[in-house]
Amino acid sequence: MTGLSEEERKALSRARFGSRAESYRTSALHASGPDLELLLEWLDPRPAEHALDVACGGGHVALALARTGADVDACDLTPEMLDVAAALLVEHDCTATFTVADAEALPYADGTFDIVTCRIAAHHFPDAFAFFEEVARVLKPGGRFGFQDQTLPPEGTSAVLTDVFERTRDVSHNQAYSIDGWATLIERAGLAVERTEIVDKQHDFVEWTKRQDCDEATVAELRQLMAEAPSGMRRWLEPVYDDHQLVSFRNRHLIVLARKLA
Ligand SMILES: C[S@@+](CC[C@H](N)C(=O)[O-])C[C@H]1O[C@@H](n2cnc3c(N)ncnc32)[C@H](O)[C@@H]1O
Repeated sequence: MTGLSEEERKALSRARFGSRAESYRTSALHASGPDLELLLEWLDPRPAEHALDVACGGGHVALALARTGADVDACDLTPEMLDVAAALLVEHDCTATFTVADAEALPYADGTFDIVTCRIAAHHFPDAFAFFEEVARVLKPGGRFGFQDQTLPPEGTSAVLTDVFERTRDVSHNQAYSIDGWATLIERAGLAVERTEIVDKQHDFVEWTKRQDCDEATVAELRQLMAEAPSGMRRWLEPVYDDHQLVSFRNRHLIVLARKLA
């Protein structure tokens, strides 16, 4: 990954998600869960509030926001994702406006939104800080930001290898951060972090590799990375084995509620 420019990394994300859009619409881990419920509970959208979901993927957050009566915009770098997301909302008799956009250069005027969300996507952005600055720009004063993404363990080697584990499965995984790392970037971009919580997402290992079409060699490499994981990485991911075969592990997701100061 280090040899690729930021634009090349974005093109890689677009190509990989473009050919896998449907699997993100049908993924149970993306469609629902206590993480999505908590995000919505904290944001507490009111009818007619203007909300933006960035990197909307299969459209699950956009749908949850639209169901509250909010006026929803959703954007993503990958046109095929917007197609499946738009179909999901139609299926549920909901509406939203979908736009192809790079999270680091949002095509919306300053102070447009009451709410901005971004769930399980920022680890793909080459410059997550540029994205958080865009969130601060497009939010109205007092507006809320609901954020969710993977985090890394506090130990240095374990953090690097946990990120390598993710990137081995999906080369468009750019960089996750520690809990403090994400919170620091959000605050430095001009948003006040009000609440944080860690929610675990349990992954069936085979399903997780299939969602990114991993070939046999990649699956074997992932098994080896986990088998050789240092203690901090093992504590973080809590791998579960059946007859010495890796069957599942957890991702620790950080949920953040932040606010643009009035
Ligand atoms: C895992 S999916 C998002 C899941 C979705 N938010 C949900 O909650 O179900 C990651 C998404 O990030 C999008 N993405 C990657 N890089 C992006 C960028 N620079 N700007 C906008 N979207 C991006 C991909 O196209 C993909 O749809």
